[in-house]
Amino acid sequence: MTDAGRHPRIKLHTLSEVTNIAGHVGDFSVTIKKKARYVIEGQCTACGECSKVCPVVRPDEFNLGLSSRKAIYSPFPQAVPSSYVVNISECLGHNPVVCSKCVDVCDKKCIDFHMSDQQITEKVGAVIVATGLTPYDPTEQDEYGYTRFENVLTSMELERLINAGGPTKGEVVRITDRKTPRSVGFVQCVGSRNARKGGDWCSNICCMNTVKSTLMLKEHYPDMDVKVFYMDIRAFGKGFEELYRRSRRAGTRYIRGLPGTVEELPDKSLKVSVENTATGKLETHELDMLILSVGLKPSPDAKKIQEMLTLQLTPDGFFLEAHPKLMPVDAATRGVFYAGCAEGPKDIKESVTQASAAAVRALRLLGSGQISTEPITSEIIAHHCTSCGLCARVCPYNAITVDTKKKTPAVVNTASCAGCGTCAPECRFGAIVMNHYTDRQITDQVDALLEKAPQSKILAFACNWCSYAGADFAGVSRLSYPPNVRLIRTMCSGRVDEKFVWQGFAKGAPVVLVSGCHIGDCHYIDANHWTVKRVERMHKKMEKMGIRKERLQLHWVSAAEGVRFAKIMKDMEALRQAVTEEEIAQTRTILKENIKGLEE
Ligand code: FES
Repeated sequence: MTDAGRHPRIKLHTLSEVTNIAGHVGDFSVTIKKKARYVIEGQCTACGECSKVCPVVRPDEFNLGLSSRKAIYSPFPQAVPSSYVVNISECLGHNPVVCSKCVDVCDKKCIDFHMSDQQITEKVGAVIVATGLTPYDPTEQDEYGYTRFENVLTSMELERLINAGGPTKGEVVRITDRKTPRSVGFVQCVGSRNARKGGDWCSNICCMNTVKSTLMLKEHYPDMDVKVFYMDIRAFGKGFEELYRRSRRAGTRYIRGLPGTVEELPDKSLKVSVENTATGKLETHELDMLILSVGLKPSPDAKKIQEMLTLQLTPDGFFLEAHPKLMPVDAATRGVFYAGCAEGPKDIKESVTQASAAAVRALRLLGSGQISTEPITSEIIAHHCTSCGLCARVCPYNAITVDTKKKTPAVVNTASCAGCGTCAPECRFGAIVMNHYTDRQITDQVDALLEKAPQSKILAFACNWCSYAGADFAGVSRLSYPPNVRLIRTMCSGRVDEKFVWQGFAKGAPVVLVSGCHIGDCHYIDANHWTVKRVERMHKKMEKMGIRKERLQLHWVSAAEGVRFAKIMKDMEALRQAVTEEEIAQTRTILKENIKGLEE
């Protein structure tokens, strides 16, 4: 942090909030609200005299309320810049100045109550999202008594106690009597792997954090009785299994089972009841302190940043990467990268690895001084455009601008366009062409695949990122599925135009499948929501025209779901066999009469 603060080419905006981000890769414009510090940065030497005389005492957030601070304070010992800050909502009054003790004592005259919030705009070429995490608040898990018993703490609070710079200078003491506890218990997975309370994901760090804490306790207090209540210990990673074994060898007792109840005894120690699932027996343990190993949740600000940068969140609320294996630090929006727990729970090593990768990805993008755009982008044919704005409405990246009032043709910003192609099927006037994966290329594939014996084929559209990869996975896994499936790849299921489907049926396909990534996993943010709408629209039209709507299927298949892909194809084959030659012929006639522009 200090290195970053001193670096000549790094500008740190502390006490600041990003309020808006506009633009695109290579040219982002970031609006920042820099909050008033009321202490002049660079002038303040952090002598601390102001803090000594300040009469306002508040819980110190950095020490999670285990110590106190004043209304003028340094947020934490290594804070950059080292200047103090005034929490103006806690100060006794600055307009007019009511107390002024800090102003009187500061001989460098650094305190300035006339400061106000500033708005700053920064131009940047790439953005790294590192919004961090929020520890789970275990209040709702009342069975552990976190809010009822003072000697029940979270793992984060223990971390502050055990830290040499913490409120007790590294001494682990009970909150009630400030004595060293004789016995300490840890409860694992509090707020993790629990869909009802907390989140159903594994928080990744808690097992090893507990193992580390047990070792520290045993080193500092060899006679301390340390117990860990767990479901299973996930000690994956280099050296972790050995660390876990060391903890056991040091005398920590690992008990498989999570406590059902925690009661407080008259001397403020705790009675923990647990079913030991290894022995099948109900046990009670008396402990001086209980530590809840809390899980990690996404930052509450993730939603705001997601909207500003048109990013995508997983159902858990963490940011979704462009590709889990090939682009694990890139966002789907070009020029945006992730570092740390913004993308998912991580330990320090993983966070540093990802942050380094994100920095290099950003440098690689900007280093040449030029940004090259994707070859697969959409393009507007101005004289066909009616400025209706439908394409702009469906673009997940806000890459299309259109002035519907002035009736000027839509414009595609190719730097922002990711090439999903969901705008093209939405245009009713044929005013959008895709560069690559053109309408012509796709309809030609339909024609070629159905040229011979179309009644025996299954026509399937698969998105590049999930369904096509799922089909590939089914192949490499040597799963058997009907050999008469004919796949057409599109970048996203949102690219599948009605006319491709009609063309398929008109050429004699008995059944058509549209497949893509699961909802929430689309690599173009939410483009597959439009796929759902389009397929629903086609189903209605089919019903109206007297074509069985079951013949057009929509299924989501992820890259890891080879088995699911094979199963869907077998179901499609059963459907195909139920379609008669007469039905196919009748469909061709109906479509010829009802759908304009179908190619013969
Ligand atoms: Fe697969 Fe959009 S990328 S559905």
